[in-house]
Amino acid sequence: MKILVATDKPFAKVAVDGIRKIVEAAGYELALLEKYTDVNDFYIAVADADALIVRSDKVTKEVVDAAKNLKIVVRAGAGYDNLDLAACTARGIVAMNTPGQNSNAVAELALGMMVYMARNTFQSGTGAELKGKKVGIHAYGNVGRLVAGIAKGFGMEVYAFDPFVTKEAIEKDGVKVCATVEELYSTCHYVSLHIPANDKTKKSIGYDLLSKMPKGGCLVNTARKEVIHEEELLKVLEERTDLKYVTDIAADNQAVLNEKFGTRVFATPKKMGAETAEANINAGLASANQIVKFLQAGDKTFQVN
Ligand code: 3PG
Repeated sequence: MKILVATDKPFAKVAVDGIRKIVEAAGYELALLEKYTDVNDFYIAVADADALIVRSDKVTKEVVDAAKNLKIVVRAGAGYDNLDLAACTARGIVAMNTPGQNSNAVAELALGMMVYMARNTFQSGTGAELKGKKVGIHAYGNVGRLVAGIAKGFGMEVYAFDPFVTKEAIEKDGVKVCATVEELYSTCHYVSLHIPANDKTKKSIGYDLLSKMPKGGCLVNTARKEVIHEEELLKVLEERTDLKYVTDIAADNQAVLNEKFGTRVFATPKKMGAETAEANINAGLASANQIVKFLQAGDKTFQVN
């Protein structure tokens, strides 16, 4: 059995070493394709793979078609919008993610971004403190919960909106529940996005919500660029000269945003929410373990298709 790790953005070496150990202990072979620039290299590498581990690498129908022996693909991470689930299902390939494994890294970055924006992107001038400010968690999943906990450490007042989580589950963390998404945006100085990118959420964050934010409001995006309505973001930033946008996933129109809005906007040069050794180890090793359990015992825990 051959397990391919195909990562445009490679795991830390310590994570790859750990994956290799798990794979070889199970009697399987590990193949590595890192920093590939040509998708054809992916097609060739996956041709004889029985299992596949990826990060944000796109597992398209073409990849699935090229992967004649593939039985399982694991997205080492939370969001699986990069997997063509229909193509996997049509071929009987099990698709999984590794929920929670890299969440802390993303949550820490979200708070770091809030500090960075509150302090004028570390330029001279008087900034503001997070203490006493209201932060809204848009989707109270693994990352959202951790953001809430860290934000409380900063002395922030924490609110959340998540139609899929009970009021009781949110309130037991000392977090106030917003009944509607509009209430979250109109209440909070900072809104931290933790929604997945899917047909319902794509382009869902736009003018209507952002224009409701209090004076000096800041949207923090460590989720996906696809959930932002970019034209409307530009419009609201033009109209509301007090609003700020910070993102770990540069917008398609980021160059325009940077030019127009200067230090009111910031995008990391490369998506780095999950770029910690710890997150790489957690998600990478979980992926390898999930594959071994599936191949050896048919365990489909964390299947998403
Ligand atoms: C995730 O969905 O787990 C994060 O966005 C991390 O993505 P990455 O593996 O490309 O860093």
